Formats: sequence, structure tokens, C-alpha cells
Amino acid sequence: MGHTIKNKFSEQLQEYVSSGEWMIVQEDYKPEENLKYESLFCLTNGYLGTRGSHEEGTARSIPCTYINGVFDKSETFMRELANMPNWLLLRLYVEKELIGIENCEILSFTRALNMRHAALVKSVCLRDRKGRETRIESVRFISRKHVHRMAVKLYVTPLNYSGIIEAENIIDGTVINFCDAPRFKVKHTYLTANEVLEEKGAYLETATRDDHLHEGCGTCVQIVQGGRDVVKTNMFHSFGEQAVEFLDFDVCEGETAELTKYAVIYTEREVKKEALKETVQKEMRDFRETGFEAEFAMHKECYERLWQEADIRIEGDGELNKAVRFNIFHLMSTASEFDSHVNIGAKLLHGEEYGGHAFWDTELFMLPFFAYTFPEKARNLETYRYHLLPAARENAAANGYRGAQYPWESADDGTEQCPDWTIEPDGTCYRCYVAVYEHHVTAAVAFGIANYVRITKDVDFLLHMGAEILIETARFWMSRCQYIEEKDRYEIHQVTGPDEWHEPVDNNVYTNYLARWNLRYVIELAKTLRQEHGEAYTRLSERINLTEEELAAWNKVQGKIYLPKKEGTQLLEQFEGYFDLKEVLIDKYDKNDWPVRPEILKTTKTSETQIIKQADVVMLLHLLGEEFDEETMKLNYSYYEKRTMHGSSLSPSIYAIMGLKVGDSSKAYRYLRRAAFLDLIDLQGNTREGIHAANAGGVWQTVIFGFAGLWTDDGGRLHVNPRLPGEWKSLSFRIHCPESWLQIEIDEAQEVKVTVLEGKETDIFVNGELKKARRISQ
Ligand code: BGC
Repeated sequence: MGHTIKNKFSEQLQEYVSSGEWMIVQEDYKPEENLKYESLFCLTNGYLGTRGSHEEGTARSIPCTYINGVFDKSETFMRELANMPNWLLLRLYVEKELIGIENCEILSFTRALNMRHAALVKSVCLRDRKGRETRIESVRFISRKHVHRMAVKLYVTPLNYSGIIEAENIIDGTVINFCDAPRFKVKHTYLTANEVLEEKGAYLETATRDDHLHEGCGTCVQIVQGGRDVVKTNMFHSFGEQAVEFLDFDVCEGETAELTKYAVIYTEREVKKEALKETVQKEMRDFRETGFEAEFAMHKECYERLWQEADIRIEGDGELNKAVRFNIFHLMSTASEFDSHVNIGAKLLHGEEYGGHAFWDTELFMLPFFAYTFPEKARNLETYRYHLLPAARENAAANGYRGAQYPWESADDGTEQCPDWTIEPDGTCYRCYVAVYEHHVTAAVAFGIANYVRITKDVDFLLHMGAEILIETARFWMSRCQYIEEKDRYEIHQVTGPDEWHEPVDNNVYTNYLARWNLRYVIELAKTLRQEHGEAYTRLSERINLTEEELAAWNKVQGKIYLPKKEGTQLLEQFEGYFDLKEVLIDKYDKNDWPVRPEILKTTKTSETQIIKQADVVMLLHLLGEEFDEETMKLNYSYYEKRTMHGSSLSPSIYAIMGLKVGDSSKAYRYLRRAAFLDLIDLQGNTREGIHAANAGGVWQTVIFGFAGLWTDDGGRLHVNPRLPGEWKSLSFRIHCPESWLQIEIDEAQEVKVTVLEGKETDIFVNGELKKARRISQ
């Protein structure tokens, strides 16, 4: 297989190609699949992301470059990632005929994402209307070494003609967001400069419409043949919002010319507006001096290092292994190692849906991957929440609560970015209540911090940032709890739990448990901090006015929070009144073992039935497992499994993990496959809008927490209780724990080998038995 994919590319591209297990291959060109592939082949480096559009542009395309953290609202419903000018466009013409994928007959086509080195490679042979045949091969990367640099290189070979090729190097500032969605279309930037970059090349500067944040993009093209610059003429034109540089060069039949397009982007966030162009120019000079190959080599090294930490190897299940890698690839590529003011959007930097907003998806689905694999990125994600704590305080106050209430959807300023209204394709407007009621995100933020600290033991973060968030979120829950005198208990009314098909409800058991957990956690934390970090604790509690009386009041409340369940049983009630709803069970499964929507939902509203969108009670079992005994977990898992439609990609992985935990592994492997291939085969039909980020994190969790059975207890001790499926011969991966970096290998007999790669030798519990993890003997 490794060989087959390499054979699809010529000699000069071999260094950009990996073996088959690292390549996601597009075998043929179907315009109707363009948008899906743009998401699948999006390249990101934590700073920006560029979708996998074709260099020459195609009719069906949503060409986007997003800079993480650059949002704008303008006429739309919310602040969304603003589509930046398209730096990628590079068009070739022979006698005015565009040599493009949609203008010519396609004689051969292969495009592939090399996940190992984060490069997009392509090889096409095109025949134009006059019968001229041209082979174009290309390589594209977004440098991880120098995050402001991107490049694409074309190898152009005229196969049966000689002549002149004209090239257009374009920066297109006309791009808009939601270009194919009439009701959501919006232009987020305006032009501020369109000029030559520096003697040659193009420079386009735009600014976002609300904040007037300037971004400068410079590109230039180098054309060589046999090591010689072959550009004959070079002309710059500023066409409104498009900066275009024309170049031409002679070609001879059978000889390959190499066109390299270098691009650089900076924004006013990194340098002063006045210095923007100069900075782009300087970066471009350095980039050109370094050259495409040397920059790519540095970029490749970065990815070698990233994979060293993050790769998961599953022997015996190659295709699944590749799909798992695909999810890890996009997730790890998008997170920033250097910027704690940005988070990760629900569709990564890969598409328009959800405007690049961070949800509870970050803390509960993605963060575990980062905390165990890239702790510094995990810290950035949590620090982002700290930067936005003042806004969360204001949000709580504006809604009549205390403490800090995090928005359901979060962009750059911490205000609620979930739209109040939305428009359906048929034109009907509907009021969207998600932000009004879906309060559990605030508990997720708190949980994420506690989890991050448990896994990494980052006490510094806890003392300087985390504790404050935990206290303020506990305050929020206190103010959210309502005393019901006749029942002598506290209740939380008018919320939406993770299952969004029942909104709003009273006493969503997931929310109530997490509210209680938040209060309890902080009460305990206060004790520990007082004992172990007395001074820091005093400073913090004085600064935010946390008193012993307040903590005592929380203690009273937490013990009386209502947790609905069926009388006399351990069956949790998803929310008050859930058991009174019409009992509808899922009793049909399609060929992929996926729930078929019960017939009755054609005539009865889902909200009147017990059918739910996604893991809700089961999500609770996943997060707070230690609060429930095995029987309770089993009972609830099997009850809710029959009622869950998995209408959100946040659901299958949680059911897989919990299924394995409660001993019902029948569906776990299929759930994992479903999650791992979700975007690759466009299972939900919306991959065009971006990659499902929470699902990607869920895939990692299913392999590591589910099949490897890994967890860290409250004392920071590591446990592994493997349950590999029959399909796998072995599983191996690496994780960071506070003082060491470990490699864990599990074989088909479920035997576990743990090796210390770096740091201290450590204790680890394998199926409850204490083992010592040793360093590799030299
Ligand atoms: C899910 C939410 C999720 C959001 C963003 C929705 O469909 O119901 O739980 O946070 O998508 O991924």
C-alpha cells in the first residue's frame, strides 16, 4: 500500500509523500466533493488555517483562511472568524486557456494529505481544448516553524507542446463568509492597501469592519528551471480588492518548471499597523532566503516531534489507525502552543460552522488529549478562560446571577456569541434559546480546570488562575440554586442539559450533579490551599472576597441539591418529568448499527418523548464515575442507550467509553469506527462546514480511556485497565504525567508494558496491581 501511493507522484515529489498509513488520498476529482475535501485537507499551524481549495480556484469552493482569534460581526448574528484574503490563488494560462482542473479534461488526478508532515500534495495531468497536455504537481504547507509563512510549489511540465505560460499570482480580498448561503453571507474585511510588495510580489492589506484590525498579506512567485530564474516579464496590477502579479516564462516540451508561491501574513495583533507592511516584507525576504525546501524541512521536523508525542499505533487495524491519526492530526495542528488568547472552535479552523466559537467541547472532549499529550497547549486553552473571566463575571451579573457565567459560545471577548435568532433555509426565522438555558458550560469550564490540574499537577496555574475560576463558577451555581421550602431542597430551574432536544427543563440531573461537584470541589480545594499554600490562598480569598461564611453556606446548599431519580431505584431521571414523557425506544438499527429514527417522531414532537439527542446522563457517568457504583452505571447506561439517537457527534465516543466501563462492549468498537470515520466519510453530511473537533477529541478518549482503560486518580496515580477489541493485535501510545513521559504498549493478550521515556520512574496500576514503570535500559 505504501508503495502504491508513492507511485502516484513523480520523483521530485517523493520527499513530500509518506507511506500509505499516513496519507489520506483523494483518488478522483468530483466537484460535488470539493467542499468536503476542503475541510479534510485544511492545513493549520495554530496561528492560521487554510482550507484545501485548489490553487486555481473552482466553481464549487469555500476558500477560507482564518486567523485564530480574528473575529468580526458586521451584519451577521455573531462575531465569527473573519475569512481573510485568499493568499493561495495561482493560475496558469497557455494562450489564454486556463490550465485548471475545471477547464480541461482530466487525464489523471491524485491529491493526498500527508499527515505525517502536514503537507498537501497533488498530481494532475490536464488536456486543454487544443489538446495540449500539462502535468502539474504541487506541494503545499503552512509552516509550523514560522507560523506566518505559507507556501505552495508547482512542478509544471508541458507534455506535448512548447510555448509561453502566463501565471497570475493573486491575493483575493473579495472573499466573504458563507459565500454559498444567501441568508448568512457577510463580508468581514475592507481594503486598506493594494500594492506591490517590494519591487516584485503583491501586497494586500485589509481591516476587519468592526474593530478595524489590520491584516497584511504578501505573496511572491519564483519560477525556475534547471536552477535558473526563468521569469521573462513581471507586472503588478491592483484590481480593486484583488492584488495580481502577472509573470510569464517559456516552457519546452518535457521540461519541468518550478513555480514557488511564498506567502506571509501578519496582523495588527502582532505588530503595529504602521509596521505591518515592513514586517511582511522582511519576513518574506527571510522566507525566500531560507527557501521552500529548507522551510519545509524545519516544518517537517516540528511535525516529527508532534507525532512523537501524539501518535497512536494500532497494529492489526490499519484503516482504523489511519482514521484515528486523521482526528489527532487536525486537533493537534489547530491548537496553539504560543497564544493563550485563542481557543479551539467546534469545527477547528477548518470551516464556517459555529463561527470558530469555543464550546464545552473544548474542556470535556478535547482537553484530556492535550493535558496528557501537549500539556503546554492544554494550559493555553485553560488560560484563555482566565483571560475571559471578567467577561464571564459581567455575563453572570447581566443575567442576574453571581460569580462567573461562561458563554455557551465564546469568541475573543468572552461575551455570549450564540445567536438569539437563526434562519432556516426556507426563510423561517426561529428564536434560538440555547444560550439562554444551556448553562452547563460553566460547570464544564470548572471541570476542565480541575481535570487539567489533576492530570498535570500544574499548581502554578491553579494558584494564579484556576482557583479563581473555580471559585467564581461555584458562586454562579450558588446563585443558580433555588431553595424550595416545602421540599427542603435546592433546585435549578430552566436549563438545557447536554440533550438539546428538551429545552428548557427543571433539574437536569447532569447540570445539578455538576453544580454540586463544583461547590464540593471548591470547598475541599479551599481547605487544601489554606494548608499547603496559605499565603497565596489568603491573597486570593481577600482579593475576591471569599469568606469562611460563604464556604459554609455552600456546604449547606451542596448537600441539598436535588438529584432526580426514579423512586426506590438508582435510575437517574434526566430531568424532572422525563419519566412522564412518552416512552419511545430505539429498536431498529441500520446496517452500520446506527439508530433508525423511530416512526412515531414523524407525528409526535421529539420533546414529548424520551428520545434524546446525545449523551446526557451517560455523560455524567463518564465525568463523575467515582460518584456511582457499578450497578448504577450499568442500569443507567442500558436505559439511556436505548433512547439516544446520537444526533450530535459528541455522543458516540462517550457511549463507547461507558459501554466498555460497564461491561457492554458490544457496540464500543463500532461506536469508535463511527466516530473515527465521521468526517472522512462525511457521515453527518456536514464535513463541508469543518471538522468535528469534539468528536476528534472523543476518538482519542475512546482509544485511551476506553480501550486502554487509562485514568488518573485524585492522588495523581496512573491506572491502565486494557480491554483491546479482538480486531487489534496491539496498541501503543505515549502520555505525559506530571514527572515523566511514558510509552504504553498493550498486546492482544492485554499485557501491558510501560516504559519511561523521560523523567522519573513512576508507579502505575495495571488492572489494579501496582507496577513500576522503568526507563528503557541503555
Ligand atoms: C451539540 C452541542 C455541541 C455543539 C458544538 C451541538 O450540536 O448538541 O453539545 O456543543 O453542537 O459542537
